[in-house]
Amino acid sequence: MTKEKVLEALKNVIYPGFTKDIVTFDFVKDIEADGDKVSVTIDITSSADEVKQQILHDATTELKKAGFETIDIHINAPKPPKQMSNTISGKNIAPHIKSFVMVSSGKGGVGKSTTSVNLSIALAMQGKKVGLLDADIYGPNIPRMMGLEEQKPEIQGNKVLPLKAYGVEVMSMGSLMEPGQSLIWRGSMIMKAIEQFLRDILWSELDVLVIDMPPGTGDAQLTLAQSVPVTAGITVTTPQEVSLDDSRRSLDMFKKLHIPTAGIIENMSGFICPNCGEESDIFGMGTTEPVAKEYDTQVLARIPIEPAIRVGGDTGHPVVYHKPDSETAKRYQEAANKLWSFVEEVLEEGAADNAAIQPTTPPGVSACSTGAGAASGAASGGHSGGSCGCH
Ligand SMILES: Nc1ncnc2c1ncn2[C@@H]1O[C@H](COP(=O)(O)OP(=O)(O)O)[C@@H](O)[C@H]1O
Ligand SMILES: [Mg+2]
Repeated sequence: MTKEKVLEALKNVIYPGFTKDIVTFDFVKDIEADGDKVSVTIDITSSADEVKQQILHDATTELKKAGFETIDIHINAPKPPKQMSNTISGKNIAPHIKSFVMVSSGKGGVGKSTTSVNLSIALAMQGKKVGLLDADIYGPNIPRMMGLEEQKPEIQGNKVLPLKAYGVEVMSMGSLMEPGQSLIWRGSMIMKAIEQFLRDILWSELDVLVIDMPPGTGDAQLTLAQSVPVTAGITVTTPQEVSLDDSRRSLDMFKKLHIPTAGIIENMSGFICPNCGEESDIFGMGTTEPVAKEYDTQVLARIPIEPAIRVGGDTGHPVVYHKPDSETAKRYQEAANKLWSFVEEVLEEGAADNAAIQPTTPPGVSACSTGAGAASGAASGGHSGGSCGCH
């Protein structure tokens, strides 16, 4: 019997969960048919055992129907990702999101939001399902930077649909408040807001949620790390020594919060002249490399000062999307590649685990009243302790 006959038979095997068959999907690889003997290899994309078993069963049935007696089917499936240990012992209030990237910095104004925007879009351009959460509740800039200033999110029941721009799902406190309005945040409110961003926003089943944090190392960072297993931490810094000092605090926080560190973005690193394209040194360049070594991590990218970046941020035209051939866009894309390799590695190894930083006190009991810390070994910033007033 011939290969054509095998393919014809296997066309009746529908890939579980889809309407197309495994031949149309091009999953059927090596076929050897000899008399009533057949051997086929099928490469599938799902690591779920049910899918494998279903295909094995259906393919065997169809090949038998076609007259084959000795049937040897080999199915290649990707290795299942290891169960993340945090899902057993830690906490994950948004389990349908595969990975979480925390973008942090020691202080404001260093380009954290710019980095979050451009990295998110770069990842989306690379085919990932990406969400961008603006958790900078004090200074939500993401709506403007993503060109979403005028848009209000749709409310569904007591949940909120994220907005969408440049292939990225977006949510920000800025989209939920009136322009120019400010909120005075207490520790407990910050915690609630962060939790609601994860629980009450109708994020799709994302590959990654990039989270633009408020500057510093405070309640927002701690709450996020306690609520979901953060897969990767990025710190954004400018090259001056004073900024590097703040950046060290950020890297130290990742360690204390058990967040795997993906690396450093050295922003405003040199200046690319818009007229001649030449790169010159303004704040210094390359100063983050030793810091990266010190914390056993890498520099994800050096992003120069470029007027197009600032204009892109102000007008909602991110450079990575609107000037994809620019040197800066290429560097963001490279950083996104490095970040993604890191995320995959962490997921594979199940290395994101927030069990060790869970609150040690039962809900409703103040950590202060028991004399215990809010989290064992966790960093806590100036606002910590909520309303207890004992700090
Ligand atoms: N590499 C850069 N070149 C030029 N302007 C930049 C660059 N990075 C950031 N900016 C601009 O600097 C300002 C601060 O950046 P932003 O991303 O808002 O910082 P943060 O979120 O850390 O406070 C913004 O106006 C932004 O457009
Ligand atoms: Mg910002």
